[in-house]
Amino acid sequence: MSTPNESCDGNLNTDANTLANDRERLSVFTVTIGATVPTGFEHTAAEEVGEKIGAEARISKDRGRIYFEISTDKLPMVHHLKSVDNLFVIVKEFENYHFKDTKEEALSDLMQLASQLPWADALEVWRMNNSLKKRRGRRRGGNNTKPKPSKGEDAPVPAMDEGDAVVTTTEKVQREPDAPQGKEEGGSSHEEEELEDDATKPLKFRVTCSRAGDKHSFASNEAARDFGGAVQEFFQWKADMTKFDVEVLLNIANNEMVIGVALTEESLHRRNITHFGPTTLRSTLAYGMLRLCQPQVSDVIIDPMCGTGAIPVEGCIEWQHSFFVAGDNNDMAVSRTVNNINHIQKRKQDGGSSASGLPVDTVQWDLCHLPMRTSSVDIIVTDMPFGKRIGSRKKNWDLYPSCLREMARVCRPGTGKAVLLTQDKKCFQKAISRMGGLWRKLPTVWVNVGGLHAGVFVLKRTSSVYGTTPEDVRSPQEDGEAQSKSREKQ
Ligand SMILES: C[S@@+](CC[C@H](N)C(=O)[O-])C[C@H]1O[C@@H](n2cnc3c(N)ncnc32)[C@H](O)[C@@H]1O
Repeated sequence: MSTPNESCDGNLNTDANTLANDRERLSVFTVTIGATVPTGFEHTAAEEVGEKIGAEARISKDRGRIYFEISTDKLPMVHHLKSVDNLFVIVKEFENYHFKDTKEEALSDLMQLASQLPWADALEVWRMNNSLKKRRGRRRGGNNTKPKPSKGEDAPVPAMDEGDAVVTTTEKVQREPDAPQGKEEGGSSHEEEELEDDATKPLKFRVTCSRAGDKHSFASNEAARDFGGAVQEFFQWKADMTKFDVEVLLNIANNEMVIGVALTEESLHRRNITHFGPTTLRSTLAYGMLRLCQPQVSDVIIDPMCGTGAIPVEGCIEWQHSFFVAGDNNDMAVSRTVNNINHIQKRKQDGGSSASGLPVDTVQWDLCHLPMRTSSVDIIVTDMPFGKRIGSRKKNWDLYPSCLREMARVCRPGTGKAVLLTQDKKCFQKAISRMGGLWRKLPTVWVNVGGLHAGVFVLKRTSSVYGTTPEDVRSPQEDGEAQSKSREKQ
């Protein structure tokens, strides 16, 4: 038996291993990660972080953000979180920053700060993250292209954020002095070459500032411009608003200030949808709504107004031991859902998964007359027409009570749950107040959907058997209306 010292190769291997171990040990350190999440779902996101990464997340005073510490070897896991939109690594947090009263003084402080911040760890994490993205891109076929809306379809409307985002502009070209330049451990030679190549190019950057609060003497574009100028001066990076390598984030909310480096280029909320519709729901919101129901093995979960299928798509990826049914009365919506599901299926196959298909079926149906047995569904999660882009406020007065009644019929008494999103709160509250025998309302989660204040209504099916409460019986007038509507459709 030979020991490592007995052969030249053995020595080399041992040295290489020691070196690799040293580098690995050195490159594992603790950092704070920040994540933007759908407002209202901060607790759900914190729960997911605890469950999947084992870290305790703090919820920022500034709604829609959570922070948690990780050791850098857990960085890949962070990208698998389903409830986060954007990720960043924190350079420095100020819980109670004193912004000076005059604009000149406040901006001058920000400029000075740029050279005093502890950038090294955050930039090291940024570099690790880049290698990770490159590897993932290659695994997915070497082309890290983002899914685009298909021809003739609407792109999703991004949620409106508070404050305005602005970038800096200056033009010196040089390498950042402190930037980590080591090669990727365990990377292929091709990967190393690419990293070396990257390291010789000057880094391009931009600063994005978001500001909330009315007590600041400066605007977010002024803060981004002056802070960005100082960052550029300090690192000798090149400013580029569109093709940047590093995005520095300056998040200001009242007297809280967080400086970070972005780890995601675009919001993760689009990750699973390729065929968009006029009101495609953010995947992160869909995930949060599903999580509120705590799906269990063998649960039957329906989205009876699935649109492009954001909810069932998210559901069948995460809860593979439940069964999902996606339905809509619009044929274009149904075909978009089918396309989205097929895309995920193909992605799984391309990734080498041998698992059988996704646990989901798609159906065209009218929610008010579901082709399902009474008491056969465990969970209903849906995003109802707000009456703005889909349907109308007027129609909702008929639609909502009919929906709630039919949902109560198919949902299991005693254990069934429904999580329903709508911005037409008045109509929903009125409809639910008349369904007390069938549904019990639990606390509502208030969310921001594309700038609209909406409610995620959480309902528990009472144990009343359908057909035995006054709510189950349609009034003769409602029956008449339903009949004339179906005649109109024909
Ligand atoms: C707000 S959109 C759902 C958007 C969806 N979450 C997505 O991600 O694309 C509401 C959907 O309800 C559907 N809808 C309206 N009335 C319906 C009914 N009676 N039965 C089934 N679907 C209905 C519409 O066609 C529309 O696709």
